[in-house]
Amino acid sequence: MAETITITDDRTGKTVTAPITDGVFPASAIRELDANLFVYDPAYMQTAACKSAITYLDGNAGILRYRGYPIEQLAEQSTFLEVAYLLLKGELPDKAQLEQWASDVTHHTYIHENMRKRFVDGFHYDAHPMGMFVSAVAALGTFYNDSKEIFDEDSREKQILRLIAKTPTIAAMCHRFSVGLPFNYPSNSLSYPGNFLQMMWKIGDEYELDPVLERAMDVLFILHADHEQNCGTTAMRVVGSSHADPYSSAAAAASALYGPLHGGANEAVVRMLEEIGSVDNVPAFIDTVKRGADRLMGFGHRVYKNYDPRATIIKKTAYDVFEVTGKNPLLDIALKLEDAALNDSYFIDRKLYPNVDFYSGLIYQAMGFPTDMFTVLFAIPRTAGWLAHWQELLADKDQKISRPRQWYVGTEERDYVGIGDR
Ligand code: CMC
Repeated sequence: MAETITITDDRTGKTVTAPITDGVFPASAIRELDANLFVYDPAYMQTAACKSAITYLDGNAGILRYRGYPIEQLAEQSTFLEVAYLLLKGELPDKAQLEQWASDVTHHTYIHENMRKRFVDGFHYDAHPMGMFVSAVAALGTFYNDSKEIFDEDSREKQILRLIAKTPTIAAMCHRFSVGLPFNYPSNSLSYPGNFLQMMWKIGDEYELDPVLERAMDVLFILHADHEQNCGTTAMRVVGSSHADPYSSAAAAASALYGPLHGGANEAVVRMLEEIGSVDNVPAFIDTVKRGADRLMGFGHRVYKNYDPRATIIKKTAYDVFEVTGKNPLLDIALKLEDAALNDSYFIDRKLYPNVDFYSGLIYQAMGFPTDMFTVLFAIPRTAGWLAHWQELLADKDQKISRPRQWYVGTEERDYVGIGDR
């Protein structure tokens, strides 16, 4: 079988043949046929906008790999900092490299005092932490004028380090501000997730870090670190393609993540479970979803048409966490909902399975995080993925400024009519 595609323009009879590589053919073939012929593809359902060597995802088989390593192995054996290194540099670090990387990240966790005192303290008392996070990431760039030097490798590395190190600090700061508690400074003696947890929860000098919760946080960070060309990463690449600095690009990516169809879904799942209120109400809720009057949040995915492998790991992590915190009372509703959906033809026919957000909110809630912090918890590790894609984009000679075309369906030319004659 030839690994080519032949397209004929029936208007002109002109034909073009293009190679198919790994199931992809270049859109330049269409340009060759007719420079004014475009493909209509809303939401990029059938469009590969880049080549990428970072994350492999097979939605039908339920496979997710970072740089070739199965997510299950990384979640079981690795740490978030090691995974961040892997995503950014392409290979797992050796012992010395990991020690250096962890030390570098640890020593960049502080943020400028003015960032907190003048910027964060200016938010309204009930500001949503994710809105604060998005703005704070953009504002952080204004403290580093060298961040504009995106083609200087040393500067790029420094901004990457700063962003990975400072996002937990920003996240904890947003939470402490929104509940009116004083800010906790980063601790250099703790792990990446351990430091984040102490910045969130320490009161005075008191905080006892539980190793199970520390590990659970790290596993959740690993699972959320990258997911190839999702909405947030695409925003990172689109803004990055204009050569904006990485802080502005990451703020755009975080804004995309904020929406309830993307990273905001974990928050929406818990609100949905609270609204359902009891396992007895599950059948009625499923009927509402099937009538199209609601969505089963935490179910379905653009790419996964099978169980999201991250959901399987998260479900197991949930039980580990509940051993420490006690069971989240919403778990029974979630289990009943999952069971009902997995046995219902509406969900089976549409290949709707639990995604990463279905159980993560239950863990976050059991660990004491307020619901409106959930998406922030997603944004912290995803920053590593965004930056890996940003780096890849800048090195990719095929890339230019993102600029899709449109199908104009508005009115033809017409003459302006003065206000008195309308
Ligand atoms: N509940 C009920 N029906 C659904 C759901 C759902 N969660 N998701 C999809 N459908 C139905 C949809 O109504 C449509 O039915 P029909 O063919 O009869 O019109 C069909 O399934 C296909 O759905 P779609 O909206 O065309 O699929 P999509 O690929 O555009 O949407 C999605 C993907 C994730 C936005 C969607 O499944 C959804 O809204 N899920 C709930 C929100 C959610 O959990 N988001 C987190 C995604 S994973 C984390 C991340 O990547 O951020």
